[in-house]
Amino acid sequence: MKNHQTLEALEKILADSYVLMLKTQNYHWNVVGDNFKSLHEMFQLQYEELFGAIDELAERIRSLGSKVDGTFDHFKKYSDIKSGNKDFNAQEMIKDLISDHEIIVNQLHKSIKISQQEGDESSADIFIQRAKAHEKTIWMLVASL
Ligand SMILES: [Fe+2]
Repeated sequence: MKNHQTLEALEKILADSYVLMLKTQNYHWNVVGDNFKSLHEMFQLQYEELFGAIDELAERIRSLGSKVDGTFDHFKKYSDIKSGNKDFNAQEMIKDLISDHEIIVNQLHKSIKISQQEGDESSADIFIQRAKAHEKTIWMLVASL
């Protein structure tokens, strides 16, 4: 298949996004401290944004003719995002999320080039939109430190 590497890149971003969504929701549930309300709400906006992105990524994989392996086992195996820690303080949670979003942005920048090399501008567009969303989230997390 001509989009072979693009498909792999989509699957990788899907796995990373799914694991990061769960981690962000974990922090939404467990964050404590003076900024509880604002962080609890910001983390909710972030995991909801990831939820929407996950659906778009998975359906792009289907549009390219491949089945989506939507299982925890698969996502865990293919993701570089480590599990969260419910006992982190608020600062540790924010720093952990920043580092994860940076991992995904780096992966997305590689994915943009891969998809363009394979002539798949539609997937490149999704990767570009996702990079912008993660970069915006990094700004908001950094501003909350
Ligand atoms: Fe909630």
